[in-house]
Amino acid sequence: MRQITFPTTGRPADVAECVDVPDPVLTSDDQILVRVDAFPINPADLLLFRGVYPRNPANGDALGNEATGIVEAVGAAVRGIAPGDRVISLRTDNWRERLLLREHELIRLSPEIGREAAAVLKVNPATALLLLETYAALSPGDWVIQNAANSAVGRALIALAAAKGLRTVNIVRRQGLADELRALGGDHVLLDGDDLAGQVATLTGDAPIRLAVDAVGGASTGRLAGCLSAGGTLVTYGAMSGDPMRIDPARLVFGDLRLRGFWLTRYLAETPRADIVALYQRLSALARTGALAPGVSARFQVSDIRAALAHAEETMGQGKTLVTFDRP
Ligand SMILES: NC(=O)c1ccc[n+]([C@@H]2O[C@H](COP(=O)([O-])OP(=O)(O)OC[C@H]3O[C@@H](n4cnc5c(N)ncnc54)[C@H](OP(=O)(O)O)[C@@H]3O)[C@@H](O)[C@H]2O)c1
Repeated sequence: MRQITFPTTGRPADVAECVDVPDPVLTSDDQILVRVDAFPINPADLLLFRGVYPRNPANGDALGNEATGIVEAVGAAVRGIAPGDRVISLRTDNWRERLLLREHELIRLSPEIGREAAAVLKVNPATALLLLETYAALSPGDWVIQNAANSAVGRALIALAAAKGLRTVNIVRRQGLADELRALGGDHVLLDGDDLAGQVATLTGDAPIRLAVDAVGGASTGRLAGCLSAGGTLVTYGAMSGDPMRIDPARLVFGDLRLRGFWLTRYLAETPRADIVALYQRLSALARTGALAPGVSARFQVSDIRAALAHAEETMGQGKTLVTFDRP
């Protein structure tokens, strides 16, 4: 089978290799053999190539935060999964053509969801929904503000917030995104920069904002914090700028703000299985009705993994690059 690996860290498009390795086989009754057919490229995958995230020494080939595939075979003790089922893997070593999983390491999805929506369901829509539902008790009509609003998480958050009747202020760092983010259900789209709080207050009629969602860090975090109402929560889930968050301490002191961090990997490790299954069933249903933002914008075969990685780095924020194990 084919598997992606990287002998050394560096620019993903320079160091990635698609190698042939032996197929795994079922060795115990509780195992499930999945033929992976597609995986997307996320920023966290790119950072692993670059050595920003440490490689797990216990599993040097651990690469790939998400993937979808079809069950090929199940052990005798497996009850809830059958050959032919479409599943997503909850593991983080998914960029290989066949995966040997146990039931708690996958989610079975309705076949109606389709391969592409399934491939991008695990990470970004789940992150967006959990960001919206975990850190503030919000009611229809309430406002949420986020930066990197054109990212996959940001787009999912816009669509999910709109479906809940929440209103969003969406901060981006370049022109030309307003129409597409409004088409997803975003209320306002603003360029990040000085006097963000003043612009936001004008647009929202000075309405309270109790949740701010940050994927950028640096001074952008401070500008988001400046838009929160007293007692509001800023939750950070990414640091695309690479810079430490800079927040005016007076905002925390006088605004009684809360700072939180979100990491999906921790959520998946610490949350009861039934809740995780329920989360993905909800998201899968939303994907099937078109309530999630479209996820995939480019497709490559695994033999072109270097081109796929280069494309993914060049087109961040414009939809996910999907890699398939299709044979030409
Ligand atoms: N904590 C978690 O569990 C979790 C889960 C999912 C994702 N994440 C993180 O969330 C972030 C977004 O992921 P994604 O897959 O949604 O991203 P994506 O679709 O690839 O989009 C990347 C976004 O980052 C922006 N960006 C890139 N470089 C930047 C910079 N130097 N300064 C400011 N903004 C910059 C892009 O803006 P332009 O379009 O203008 O370039 C775009 O909005 C990543 O950091 C990812 O690792 C975390």
